[in-house]
Amino acid sequence: MNRTQQLYKKAKKMIPGATQLLSKRPEMHLPGFWPAYYKKAKGCEIWDIDNNKYIDMSYMGIGACILGYADKDVDCAVRKAIEKGSMATLNCPEEVELADLLFKIHPWANMARYARCGGEAMAVAVRIARAKRQKDIVLFCGYHGWHDWYLCANLASNKSLDGHLLTGLAPRGVPRGLRGTAFPFAYNDTKAFLELIEKYNNNIAAVVMEPIRNYYPNPGFLETVRKVTKKLGLILIFDEVSAGWRLTLGAAHLLFNVYPDIAVFAKGISNGYPMAAIIGKNDVMNIAQDTFISSTYWTERIGPAAALATIKKLKDKKVAAYLSEIGSEVQSGWKQSAGKNHLEITVSGTPALSHFNFDYDGRLAAKTLFTQLMLKEGFLATDSFYASYAHKDKHIKAYLKAVDAAFRFLASAIKKGNLKKHLKGPVCHSGFKRLA
Ligand SMILES: Cc1ncc(COP(=O)(O)O)c(C=O)c1O
Repeated sequence: MNRTQQLYKKAKKMIPGATQLLSKRPEMHLPGFWPAYYKKAKGCEIWDIDNNKYIDMSYMGIGACILGYADKDVDCAVRKAIEKGSMATLNCPEEVELADLLFKIHPWANMARYARCGGEAMAVAVRIARAKRQKDIVLFCGYHGWHDWYLCANLASNKSLDGHLLTGLAPRGVPRGLRGTAFPFAYNDTKAFLELIEKYNNNIAAVVMEPIRNYYPNPGFLETVRKVTKKLGLILIFDEVSAGWRLTLGAAHLLFNVYPDIAVFAKGISNGYPMAAIIGKNDVMNIAQDTFISSTYWTERIGPAAALATIKKLKDKKVAAYLSEIGSEVQSGWKQSAGKNHLEITVSGTPALSHFNFDYDGRLAAKTLFTQLMLKEGFLATDSFYASYAHKDKHIKAYLKAVDAAFRFLASAIKKGNLKKHLKGPVCHSGFKRLA
């Protein structure tokens, strides 16, 4: 057993669930073989603690590092923030500078609060909406973190959240009293959304959703959500934690000309340094003064300094356009290789957050074997590709060549019905599960 696997084995005994983020569990990708720990990361390259080097063609810091790992401009701004004192009794002026910049990019908004993680920022947004409306019910679509307001949807049925990115999220420990306060609807299902509105109309505080994730909005879907929420005075919250900064400079909703009452950013806004922003209109945001929302480390300097430097670079280098270009290249590479090798796959997602599914009963076994084959060739690769500015032509070309060989192997194994025989370990998990 190499050092990585030894350390992971030890972690499992000391840290319940072994990591702090479900997507960083090796069981989600290649149980027993995914290199759990890294020594160094730069650009789109990662060295594990056994000194193996990989090109990351998977999640790039689970969506946080749009510019690539250890980006020199962002790191330089962070170093300066550290030299000036990252924390003090007084506030850092970067908070105000960042608010100005965010409002310039999103002219519909004129007030901001800050947090440091996506899930907690979403909890802040939901608290503000509930405080404003003085109602409890939230209608939502998609994944928004681990907090009680969201997980309580699974108190009604353990499967309520299953269509929303992560399956099997267990609500144990979430107060039973929250049952009936959050109801999911599927993206693009206008009918289901309108039915929920009809059913809970008088008690709804907010509608929470990503403006886009794995599918583009059907004509009229976002517009209907906006029209109905406006008419009824409900707070529309767009979660831009993963979608933001990738499709355009700023929120993805800017592309659709549909504007929420609150938008929430995290992850990519600061390229690997903890930072989150909740922006909105003053008539809604000002309610944050009438409910207690406050935390010490939401005031430190590194997050806003990193966000300012990240946004500057995203703008200067026209990063969103670049991500679309290389993401499209990867999507067509997948399709071409699958077609050539007679492998059934479905490609989805925006180019910047691309995804494919193996269309077979043994979908997860195929995904696991794909990751195993790619790892051997020096790539961290799953069924998703999160494009970054650090992915250059040479990385994409080398990756697509390896994908082609892996797809050929998979197609042959599927044809022979012996896919699992080639797996060195167990099949990967598809969602949240207790670890053995
Ligand atoms: C759309 C969306 N919202 C919220 C979150 C939660 O963010 P965090 O993991 O920073 O708490 C995520 C994370 O994947 C996300 O994709």
